[in-house]
Amino acid sequence: MSLDRYYLLGRSGLRVSRLALGTMNFGTGGFHAAYGKTEDESRQIFRRYLEAGGNFIDTADFYTAGESERILGTLIAEANVRDKVVLTTKFTNSVAPGDPNAGGNGRKHMIRAVEASLRRLRTDYIDLFMLHTWDRITPVEEVMRTFDDLTTAGKIRYAGLSDVPSWYAARAQTHAEAHALAPAVSLQLPYSLIDRAIEQEHVAMGQTLGLGITAWSPLGGGFLTGKYRPSDQGLSGEGRLSDAGSPSGSSWSEREWRLLAALEGVAGKLGVTMAQVALNWVATQPGIAAAIAGASSVRQLDANLGALDFELPAELRAQLDEASAVPPVSVYRMFTPGYQSWLVNPGVKVGDKPAEYAPAVQNWVA
Ligand SMILES: NC(=O)c1ccc[n+]([C@@H]2O[C@H](COP(=O)([O-])OP(=O)(O)OC[C@H]3O[C@@H](n4cnc5c(N)ncnc54)[C@H](OP(=O)(O)O)[C@@H]3O)[C@@H](O)[C@H]2O)c1
Repeated sequence: MSLDRYYLLGRSGLRVSRLALGTMNFGTGGFHAAYGKTEDESRQIFRRYLEAGGNFIDTADFYTAGESERILGTLIAEANVRDKVVLTTKFTNSVAPGDPNAGGNGRKHMIRAVEASLRRLRTDYIDLFMLHTWDRITPVEEVMRTFDDLTTAGKIRYAGLSDVPSWYAARAQTHAEAHALAPAVSLQLPYSLIDRAIEQEHVAMGQTLGLGITAWSPLGGGFLTGKYRPSDQGLSGEGRLSDAGSPSGSSWSEREWRLLAALEGVAGKLGVTMAQVALNWVATQPGIAAAIAGASSVRQLDANLGALDFELPAELRAQLDEASAVPPVSVYRMFTPGYQSWLVNPGVKVGDKPAEYAPAVQNWVA
């Protein structure tokens, strides 16, 4: 089973499964209530993930208004696996509307958030504490200083960033390096066959600066499982996307349905499911340390667990790459192999880099 092989996360000694368990739907409160799961349903999913050897758990303080953390605290205590799991949580989103320091990335909120997460998770340390979203205000120096203080205080083991511009992460990391502060080891971003935007900047930045990328919504929220079909309303099929529209907020485009057909073709040739191919593609892309998969039931999780038990042959990967490609725009056109051999190195055979997997993947440890 592929979950019980562990890989180094970014430039760190932390060993994690390449499929992390997303728990945004554990609990039935708050923002994610529409597709939330009860404690019992969450327990089954959590236990199955552990049985398969998985050790990488993702949550956040505001998921299901704190219920996700509370449920995880209970489940981890019940299974007596606190030291075995790599527990990730995040702060930024407000937990008390109207209170200016109950959200954002300032030091006051970071410290208050870590204490509240520790209480809900029923633990005295967090393995990976992440800034959830760039708040556009707090100086990067303040955030990295606070991460360093929380590490020294033993409240957190590692720091990470989620949903930030690549320039911000680069500034944060170089600041930490220059001042010998605890660095960030991971970057959490949306990434899947239908959303490859992070390839423009974030992937190369993460590889250069030692940030292992963990990909959220690797199935595009369920779209890439193939259970939806085009309809007058946008799409039809059973699942949380049926009334939600596309991830970008616009309607589902021809491109996305064409991509789905290509994915179905590849899955058919390999004799596996579309979801498994989609997860495999994400987890083995350059710079990607792990795909954070969500599941609404044990049945779904079970079906997805084999995603890393096969190799995606180069020619089939190329078909998926082509079907999901987004043509580079503006200045990014100048960094493509075509442009470079036309103007930067005309008449010179430079060659593309060989297809590299994530450095973390090459650092495989048993
Ligand atoms: N940092 C961030 O800003 C951020 C943002 C979003 C998520 N996240 C993290 O990423 C995790 C995963 O996000 P996600 O839930 O959007 O990921 P996802 O893996 O793209 O989508 C998971 C959903 O797809 C459907 N699905 C999964 N396997 C299936 C199968 N075999 N057959 C049919 N349907 C299947 C289920 O939804 P239905 O059954 O309802 O259709 C499931 O809840 C979250 O739990 C959270 O930890 C982080």
